[in-house]
Amino acid sequence: MKNKSIYILGIESSCDDTSAAVICNGKVLTNVVANQDIHAKYGGVVPELASRAHQQNIVPVIQQAIQQANIDKKDISAIAFTRGPGLMGSLLVGSSFARSLSLALNIPLIPVNHMQAHVLAHFIEDENQQKPPFPFLCLTISGGHTQIVKITSYFTMEVIGETFDDAVGEAFDKSAKILGLPYPGGPFIDKYAKLGNPDAFQFTKPKMSDLNFSFSGLKTGILYFIQKKVRENPNFIEENLNDICASIQRTIVEILFDKLKKAVELTGIKHIAIAGGVSANSEIRATLKAAEEKYGWKTYIPKFEYTTDNAGMIAIVGYLKYLENDFSNQTTTTTARLKVNEN
Ligand code: KG4
Ligand code: ZN
Repeated sequence: MKNKSIYILGIESSCDDTSAAVICNGKVLTNVVANQDIHAKYGGVVPELASRAHQQNIVPVIQQAIQQANIDKKDISAIAFTRGPGLMGSLLVGSSFARSLSLALNIPLIPVNHMQAHVLAHFIEDENQQKPPFPFLCLTISGGHTQIVKITSYFTMEVIGETFDDAVGEAFDKSAKILGLPYPGGPFIDKYAKLGNPDAFQFTKPKMSDLNFSFSGLKTGILYFIQKKVRENPNFIEENLNDICASIQRTIVEILFDKLKKAVELTGIKHIAIAGGVSANSEIRATLKAAEEKYGWKTYIPKFEYTTDNAGMIAIVGYLKYLENDFSNQTTTTTARLKVNEN
């Protein structure tokens, strides 16, 4: 095994991004992502359209990932693919392709849990990024999930808090929709919030004593607030967009960090990572960074390209499993529902 280059091809197709990556000994050589703009006009992901777009994108995306990595397909040691959770029609496109290619090349197939991959993206080899030591806590925040996970080894993860209803990404996207912003609206809220006053408007935060989250009440509160204000002044949104976005974002950030602080108190763990698409948010990143000095935490913030759905994170899990000889047989199936502690 010594000095041998291990190349893993990662394939991700769980939702609306088709992605392929090639990594060599844990280092990303290529990480190609094809976004699907088609969903924007529907204000959310349309599953049937997503699987059709994956069908169109999968071959060129994989070809590009292999070609730009400057390797031949025969150099690939194993293929890692997203097994779940996600949209079944989308998952099937990536998993069927991965299965066929592994049979054709006669190399191992490695199923990957998408939620573990968001967390384990922190273990991609990168000289500028520090890896978290075990145990650490990870706040995984995406369009589909909001979890605080305790990680004691690569594949030993425990959810110690999660959302009862909407994910935090949905809270961003649904708020943005109320304001008439395009889908997905999270990045737009982030952009306008930079120019606004976060104390301009107050929104009620959920009262939950444990480590769990709820975002559906916030969404309803924002909807009623905006409807009332627009009745009084039809130009309310345009005239106050920056302040509204800053106030919504500040409320969400406070909800997240109240729980994170509680999780640190309860576990005594001060190594804190973030993961998932919403961890691209600038205020969440800045607040986490500030917590190093404020609370004595050591924090781990992934590069932007490894926060939203991408195959680099799938490939790194494939690599870690490859090192442990953890391969599947060809009968491993995709599954729409999969918990972070399930392999
Ligand atoms: O992880 P991801 O790419 O896909 C899922 O697995 O869900 O996350 C997508 C979510 C969307 O809700 C999007 O609005 C949100 O991440 N997002 C952001 C930002 N960038 C992406 N939310 C807030 N601020 C951002 N800068
Ligand atoms: Zn994701």
